[in-house]
Amino acid sequence: MSNYHIKHLEEYFQVYRKSVRNPESFWEEIAEEHFVWRKRWNKVLEWDFKKPEIKWFEGAQLNITENCIDRHLSTRSHKTAILFEPNNPKEKSQKITYFQLYERVNQFANVLREQGIQKGDRVCIYLPMIPELAVSLLACARIGAVHSVVFAGFSATALSIRINDSDSKMVITSDGSFRGEKTTDLKGIVDDALEKSPCVKSVLVVKRTNSNIFMKEGRDLWIQPLLDKASKICQMEIMDAEDPLFILYTSGSTGMPKGMLHTIAGYMVYTAYTFKNVFQYREDDVFWCTADIGWITGHSYIVYGPLANGATTVMFEGIPSYPDFGRFWEIIEKHKITQFYTAPTAIRALAKENLEYVEKYDLSSIKVLGTVGEPINEEAWHWYNNNVGKKHSPIVDTWWQTETGGILISPIPFATPTKPTYATLPLPGIQPVIMDKNGKEITENQVDGRLCIKFPWPAIARTIWGNHERYRETYFSTYKKKYFTGDGALRDEVGYYRITGRVDDVIIVSGHNLGTAPIEDAINQHPAVAESAIVGFPHDIKGNALYGFVILKETGESRVHENVRIEINQIIAEHIGPIAKLDKIQFTSGLPKTRSGKIMRRILRKIANNDFNNLGDTTTLLNPEVVQEIIDNAL
Ligand code: PRX
Repeated sequence: MSNYHIKHLEEYFQVYRKSVRNPESFWEEIAEEHFVWRKRWNKVLEWDFKKPEIKWFEGAQLNITENCIDRHLSTRSHKTAILFEPNNPKEKSQKITYFQLYERVNQFANVLREQGIQKGDRVCIYLPMIPELAVSLLACARIGAVHSVVFAGFSATALSIRINDSDSKMVITSDGSFRGEKTTDLKGIVDDALEKSPCVKSVLVVKRTNSNIFMKEGRDLWIQPLLDKASKICQMEIMDAEDPLFILYTSGSTGMPKGMLHTIAGYMVYTAYTFKNVFQYREDDVFWCTADIGWITGHSYIVYGPLANGATTVMFEGIPSYPDFGRFWEIIEKHKITQFYTAPTAIRALAKENLEYVEKYDLSSIKVLGTVGEPINEEAWHWYNNNVGKKHSPIVDTWWQTETGGILISPIPFATPTKPTYATLPLPGIQPVIMDKNGKEITENQVDGRLCIKFPWPAIARTIWGNHERYRETYFSTYKKKYFTGDGALRDEVGYYRITGRVDDVIIVSGHNLGTAPIEDAINQHPAVAESAIVGFPHDIKGNALYGFVILKETGESRVHENVRIEINQIIAEHIGPIAKLDKIQFTSGLPKTRSGKIMRRILRKIANNDFNNLGDTTTLLNPEVVQEIIDNAL
């Protein structure tokens, strides 16, 4: 019997028990029955969390695009694979069938090959949410190139850092992007980035906004004329199971962003399996995940997971507030969306608007609702449940990470009873544990602590590109033989998990992971700034917002302070992107430090949260007097 599709709670428990008792045979059965392999594996799993080394389906050969496209052609050739909804509702939506996708990916892959891209080369993709974005990922995968998508909201500096770290040979971009009323000159950002990225030899440009852009002779090419000439047949590269599929950067507590490396077979099996179960996907469903493909959610649940199941997946170019706050609901009605997957920050923003925006549209097609990226607060959960799901569509609160490749903890709709703010139960194959302060596993229920996973699952990232030691140190050194997630969690009396948030210096703002270190580095580049520290504080819509404590080299008049405030946010936008701007900036004469010179962020966090009473023992600080000054001037 196949374990592939769980339909009720009893079945979930049965399948879960089996997956834990014998993970190898569990995943082997799924891999065998639901995918196309060019060569079978020798061994299902090899792992050692100490080294760390994780290998799934070693010895197997395949191409993920054969699984996501070619194999559907005999039965789903005319079915819509990608449904593109443009930013402007007046522009027509596009339905790309599986056959058209096949041809477009092949042409794109042929162009990449003609331009000298070979198996193993890294290709940086910096595109808005247009069909070419999905097509370019698949085209890379077709020829065995490793894609590294950079979210098109990142600045030139952030883009350049990621291009250099991955040593990308090519950038794929567009003349510009449309988001709401705004047109952004993406090609200009790429031009700036490439001044510091000599590894890039060529740039392929998609026409989207028809902006007048600069094309550098010998480096930049419009892609359309090349596609028009390219063959619609492209022989796929036969890849090893553990060959790299993509690099995707995520923020760390310190230093450079981490280029998480995902490999082909395990990622494919896991994203396909979780897509099918978490969204209870059925053949004629129309699935919409509102994430950007620049993040892992888009990779796994707009592109690979849905296409591996032969699903119809929606790509939306725009934003929820354009032309008005009814845009999401209008799209659900228009395309009869059956599963809708979004972020709590979007729900909170839309819940603030007039209910008429939701009520105006027929949302009866919806069967399952999902959230991802940050904890969902109770109020937002109920608003979503009452007004979008009309109390009959289960909400799947899906917990996972860039590093995990796919969803690890989530209800299975119509099987797992949901509970507001709880991600509920681990999916089959996932063995979460809660650790106490002393590094010991807590086995009983009704506890909280730090969340780890004690057994590998197929989609776990295999390394940090170019820095395996950092991978070991970040995820496998805190707790012996366990993957440490960096999240706090509690487990209730029935074993349901609730994720309480990051326990490190990563702050999630509007669902985007931001590391404090790069933001502080950016601020410190302002000539008037001596030192800075960033912490998060609760925000109604964004979940968290950023609070900066800044020491100026010279304290001047308040007029000067105002200018510096504006300039600090400009520097942050230039170095990282507008998403990392600070909501509050407090100037101070000092920062609370330990005797070894480390900033005590715990104290700053409390002050930013207006929690002045429980600051703990401050007498051991190097400079305890500064705490009162910071409290007195808190914003
Ligand atoms: O803190 C958790 C939070 O987002 C982090 C991972 O961020 P990223 O790698 O950008 O991936 C986001 C999309 C998968 C986690 O460490 N997070 C993600 N989902 C949830 C969540 N926090 C609470 N509830 C969730 N459902």
